[in-house]
Amino acid sequence: MATLEQIVELERKYLLQTYNRYPVVLSRGKGVFLYDLEGKRYLDFVAGLGVNALGHAHPRIVKTIRAQAGKLIHVSNLYYQEYQGLLAEKLCSLSELNRAFFSNSGTEAIEGSIKLARLAGHRAGGDAKCRLVALEGSYHGRTFGALSLTGQDKHRKGFEPLLEEVTFVARNDVDALRAAIDENTCAIVLEPIFGEGGIHECSVEFLRECRTLADRHRAALIFDEIQCGLGRTGTIFAFQSFGVTPDIVAIAKPIAAGLPLGAFLAKEEFATAISPGQHGTTFGGGPLACHVALEFLAVVEEQKLLENVNKVGAYLQQELKALVEKRAAAKEVRGRGFIQGIELDVPARPIVDAALEHGVLFNSTQDTVVRFLPPFLLEEKHVDKGIRLLKKLLGKKRQRVSELQTQSGQPQ
Ligand SMILES: Cc1ncc(COP(=O)(O)O)c(C=O)c1O
Repeated sequence: MATLEQIVELERKYLLQTYNRYPVVLSRGKGVFLYDLEGKRYLDFVAGLGVNALGHAHPRIVKTIRAQAGKLIHVSNLYYQEYQGLLAEKLCSLSELNRAFFSNSGTEAIEGSIKLARLAGHRAGGDAKCRLVALEGSYHGRTFGALSLTGQDKHRKGFEPLLEEVTFVARNDVDALRAAIDENTCAIVLEPIFGEGGIHECSVEFLRECRTLADRHRAALIFDEIQCGLGRTGTIFAFQSFGVTPDIVAIAKPIAAGLPLGAFLAKEEFATAISPGQHGTTFGGGPLACHVALEFLAVVEEQKLLENVNKVGAYLQQELKALVEKRAAAKEVRGRGFIQGIELDVPARPIVDAALEHGVLFNSTQDTVVRFLPPFLLEEKHVDKGIRLLKKLLGKKRQRVSELQTQSGQPQ
């Protein structure tokens, strides 16, 4: 069996050096726990960056994958298969939107969404109706279209020129929003809750204004729910938690329980702007991923997992807020349900590294935020375990954090 050191060395030699991985090799999982090569157990508050909503090795998902893999994995989009239409129907009924397109990732769902918005924009207002409005601090992915909408210099730097027709406004700045939108705007694109951007919510007032302005200017209101959607806020779509319905919603992460699948769903008036041949994918929406996605949605519904997200999410928030009271290094708690973050006034990465050593997986983002995207199966006793550890790590805060920083020399 290869060791951690051998695996790290192999990757160092042969992979593009794009990731700053945590020093652990995960080899199996069960429920809310993961295990490394030596069998050490880790409590998982990360869920593969919001993907493993049903935890690891969920029996119904394993069974569906086994059965479907033995029948048919891939056929391309040249042919019909049993599951794509069923999944589209299910997602449309849950969202009350009208049509779906399936991709392989979140980024591709964003790309497809803006292509559709461009087509609808051109149809409504000619070639000039092509401008996009996005939010400062947002994250939409790393292809050129998605990156052009991502409002963070650290991700954009070095890749210019990007799409030029994007205007950025500050989240929740209604005046800036009004100033940015005109008859040449074809879409407003936003995450109702910033994920990678540090768990910041858009206000209901701001989202309502986006809706009003999009309607007034016949622009598409596109919600990127790739991280916050499909149950994490306690409703199946995040927009249902905010009471503002978009024209197009992009989803991905948990939808096929770990298999690569993304989608965007659109209202009919936008969906009709596209014709055969204008968009497509070889892999997207294959029978294996779609069958598993149907099973994922069935499990969430039958096992009432959204009730658990609401209940345990409220408990997590309460305990994080209590931590802010008790520990000077903890400043603020943001988010809801199973998409939450705690803002620290010290770097978060050393805390996350130390938690790993103690058998708990957290994730840091934007340098000072510890982010929680746990599986929907998480229970209050797991929250207690995570909070106890955080409290301990923040308790020895400044000394411990500075020690760890000098050891690793690499706050992210
Ligand atoms: C809000 C949001 N949009 C888009 C993406 C990109 O999705 P993917 O990494 O599946 O391409 C992510 C990924 O983290 C995301 O959180």
